[in-house]
Amino acid sequence: MARLKSAQELSALDSDLVSAVLEAKRRGQSDAQIAKQMKLSLRQLEQIAIHAYGLNISNPDRARRIRAWAPQQFQLEGTTVWSFKHRGNWATHHGQYRGNWSPYIPRNLILRYTKPGDLVLDPFVGSGTTAIEAKLLGRRCIARDINPACVELTLKSLQFLPPLGLFNSACYFEPEVSVGDARDLQGIESDTVDLVCAHPPYAGIISYSAGIAGDLSQLSAEAFVAEMRSVASECYRVLKPGGKCAVLIGDARKEKHIVPIGFRVIEAFLSAGFLLRELVIKIQHNCKTTGFWYRRSIEHNFLLLAHEYLPIFEKPERNNQCLLNGDAVKLPCPIVEELGPLEELAEPLKTSSVWVFPNNAMKRHVAANVLRRYSSRLISHSEGSQGVAPAEYKAALWQRAGEVLGSPACDARFLVVEAQDFRSNGSVVPAAKLVLDALESHPRLWLKEIVVLAPQDLADATAADANLAIVHKYLIVYEVIG
Ligand SMILES: C[S@@+](CC[C@H](N)C(=O)[O-])C[C@H]1O[C@@H](n2cnc3c(N)ncnc32)[C@H](O)[C@@H]1O
Repeated sequence: MARLKSAQELSALDSDLVSAVLEAKRRGQSDAQIAKQMKLSLRQLEQIAIHAYGLNISNPDRARRIRAWAPQQFQLEGTTVWSFKHRGNWATHHGQYRGNWSPYIPRNLILRYTKPGDLVLDPFVGSGTTAIEAKLLGRRCIARDINPACVELTLKSLQFLPPLGLFNSACYFEPEVSVGDARDLQGIESDTVDLVCAHPPYAGIISYSAGIAGDLSQLSAEAFVAEMRSVASECYRVLKPGGKCAVLIGDARKEKHIVPIGFRVIEAFLSAGFLLRELVIKIQHNCKTTGFWYRRSIEHNFLLLAHEYLPIFEKPERNNQCLLNGDAVKLPCPIVEELGPLEELAEPLKTSSVWVFPNNAMKRHVAANVLRRYSSRLISHSEGSQGVAPAEYKAALWQRAGEVLGSPACDARFLVVEAQDFRSNGSVVPAAKLVLDALESHPRLWLKEIVVLAPQDLADATAADANLAIVHKYLIVYEVIG
């Protein structure tokens, strides 16, 4: 088959090739298989689907037989690490729409933060996952998307009658689905929504339309974050005081370095006036960690992105002051720690951005991975100190970085900083974000990776109160330049 060079060539494309691709997608062949067989890139397959259907989907005509109305043995998540091995295919849920989220995510959010009859808004509804969950769980729902084809797809997925009473809901509500721009939630009154579930397309990672005006998936990272400020202020406006707003967002990679879109979007929502109630890490399961990818990850020293952020914001009851700028928050003081000596590890090195280790061996495994990949020194935190205010913390971190880079023994090509979120006055203080803010303008540091450290055994780590147990930490890795 002919090899395509760019999406622009689609118009001139052999129609037999397009038909063969669409037929293979309809038969359920994976994109990876089709790409290999027909010598096309994944981006080109994406463009073929978008041109054919107006949507980034494998097969829009696929009828679904409902096999189950709910996930088996469902339990609410109790910690800050959410990891679903299977995406979930109860009711009319399906994984055909590129990049749609697992129904376990809106189910957890809806059950944790709303009651039957409450109003849920999804301003980026895509294939309708949130709307399906809201209908199943007896919540009212407003669902919007910039792409009219998504509205059609969502309405199709909502063609079912949920069995009443099964989920403690006395009745169901048909979601209101329409075309709309998340940056301007016109028609939705202020202070009326109980929960926003938002899953924006992040900055050109996946394309969602053939250039529909206002489609945020067409933007650069910078332009995308700027537009998310409008989304944040509209979500703030329509939420009731005390209402929650969850946003699933991931990072991107450019020139083998991380672009921290996740924390920039978190900044946009905090600037709109929100408090941060939780910061969940959503782990992706489809990462390639063996063979070719293992070798590449070691040779070129990069990690495959395997996590996204799910910050859960709250509109304050009153206009609270932003905690991060106040002196009320105390952060642990940063110190420079010598790692080593290098221990032999039975396991191969980690190749994705999520490092999961048994709790009792966490320190040993982290040290071995950091030593081999990056550095013999780590900036961690001193226990037991009184703690410092955010401004002092940032200054101290800058100074510690200077100590490491300036030391005669320093051969560092990388600088690694450890951070863990914590709660203060009921809000989460996003410690990794403070590190990024503190070192962002350092002339010799270029952000390389954001690694999530998570314990293997989450079963017994559940918070005693209504909050999630914070179980993850981060390693923020910088390449030393200049
Ligand atoms: C990641 S997908 C959402 C997937 C959804 N959670 C699901 O499970 O199907 C992002 C969606 O945002 C839509 N979108 C892009 N820009 C938008 C905007 N300005 N306003 C509303 N929707 C937009 C895209 O069309 C796409 O369907």
